[in-house]
Amino acid sequence: VPGAHRDDEPTVTTTTTPTITTGAGAPLDYGAPVLVVLTTPDDPVGRPFPAGQGTAEAVGVDAGRVLAAERARGDAGEVVAVPLGRDGGPDRLLFLGTGNGEAVALRSAGAALARRAAAAGRATVDARGLAAAALGAFAEGVGLAAYAPAGPKASKVLTEAVLVVDDPAGPGVAEALARAGALARAVHVARDLVNTPSLVKSPAWLADQAALAAAAAGLDIEVLGPDALAAGGFGGIIGVGAGSSRPPRLVRLTYTPPPAPGAARARHVVLVGKGVTFDSGGLSLKPAVPMAGMKTDMAGAAAVLATMTALGTLRCPVKVTGVLCIAENMIGGGAARPGDVLTTWDGTTVEVLNTDAEGRLVLADGLSYAAATLAPDAMVDLATLTGAISIALGRRTAGLFSSDDALAEALAEASRVAGERVWRLPLTEEYRPALDSAVADLANVGKALDVSGGSITAALFLREFTAGVPWAHLDIAGAARSDSDDGEISKGGTGWGVRTLLAWLA
Ligand code: BES
Ligand code: MN
Ligand code: MN
Repeated sequence: VPGAHRDDEPTVTTTTTPTITTGAGAPLDYGAPVLVVLTTPDDPVGRPFPAGQGTAEAVGVDAGRVLAAERARGDAGEVVAVPLGRDGGPDRLLFLGTGNGEAVALRSAGAALARRAAAAGRATVDARGLAAAALGAFAEGVGLAAYAPAGPKASKVLTEAVLVVDDPAGPGVAEALARAGALARAVHVARDLVNTPSLVKSPAWLADQAALAAAAAGLDIEVLGPDALAAGGFGGIIGVGAGSSRPPRLVRLTYTPPPAPGAARARHVVLVGKGVTFDSGGLSLKPAVPMAGMKTDMAGAAAVLATMTALGTLRCPVKVTGVLCIAENMIGGGAARPGDVLTTWDGTTVEVLNTDAEGRLVLADGLSYAAATLAPDAMVDLATLTGAISIALGRRTAGLFSSDDALAEALAEASRVAGERVWRLPLTEEYRPALDSAVADLANVGKALDVSGGSITAALFLREFTAGVPWAHLDIAGAARSDSDDGEISKGGTGWGVRTLLAWLA
């Protein structure tokens, strides 16, 4: 196929994350075109960090005068740029606000720097005065925002930042930077996978990318192709993929933690990802406008895969199995028809009333298979499942559903720490009869009872396949894609979920 993937393109991720290093000594020694002095809020205007005062003076700038003249407040991510005209020195001095100094603020300060210094490519930051954790959050913001999709129109991104600190060998400094780097790389992997057009991103391609990533990260992997899926009874994945000339896959990835000295058996978490490489809606065809973004419909699988690539680096203490449910939802002579009844992996029969409610069909197989064969202590699925979730919560917040309060709280807390946003929604029991079917165990859309609440009935459908295992579902249909660069989020695939999962697991 012209333009499709060639076998000699083995890379999992085509973009690179910036090199972020620490240094001691004078910020001017590093010769970057952009020099950064951090500021903090004060009354009536912000003030520079103590060390930064001298750094500004060294390039002939009176920080107090500039900040007062600009009425700079020192808010997180605020940038005041001062052009410098001297030969041999930096081209610009940026005063960069750090707000209240907490992780969220430092992340957005880092992101603001990455965007403002993108064209220049390199920056030196006078980061003296930041503790290790703050430094890590700052580096995370830089790494997350220094992203642009590869390709002929790739825009320039910041490639190198030196953070000048009091002591690069100080407690926690190297670890914080390593962690930030691993995290940013993982998010970039997820974004690259989401941003890849579906012409290239067939189910086989996505499974191949998983294999490459697994090899690089030292994960065990098993890939089930169409024959193994049919033989294994994966009727949901087979049914969704039946309209495509490019058959489905199920990928299982395993991360085994290093043995903890004298500890009991490690807990086992299963992550299940919706990997619909393109969602045309199937015979219940989508209109043109909503179909246009549907290369994103594998963002759940991308987040699971990307998360797993970082577990080793972050020395995650729990055993993690990733299950990617991969299919292309297309029209065609073999496609499932509205009214067809599929039998999922666990023998549940499902009446397909709408072929566009396909995510729950592939996840039904993945969840029930995982619950029955992998003995998980908890299962979490990520899926671009319902358009309704962005009506409820907007485009920057994922919906969280869970059968287990402790698991829900742990994930919500992880998302807060990580700088992503979730909001828990109920599994309203009274809505469950909406999924009743006259001809099968379940219908794939809530039609039997007029309750609306499409994200809730979708979650209730998934719950049927969790076999009592503590389970949480993240509906990322709104958050997985952004129409613009926004702080550490980038236009296109956002990589939503990687940060939350890593914070939770690690
Ligand atoms: N992949 C879509 C959900 C989606 C919508 C993701 C918008 C990203 C942006 C999903 O497969 C779907 O089509 N859901 C239907 C469910 C309906 C048929 C019950 C929807 O949301 O309209
Ligand atoms: Mn759909
Ligand atoms: Mn879909």
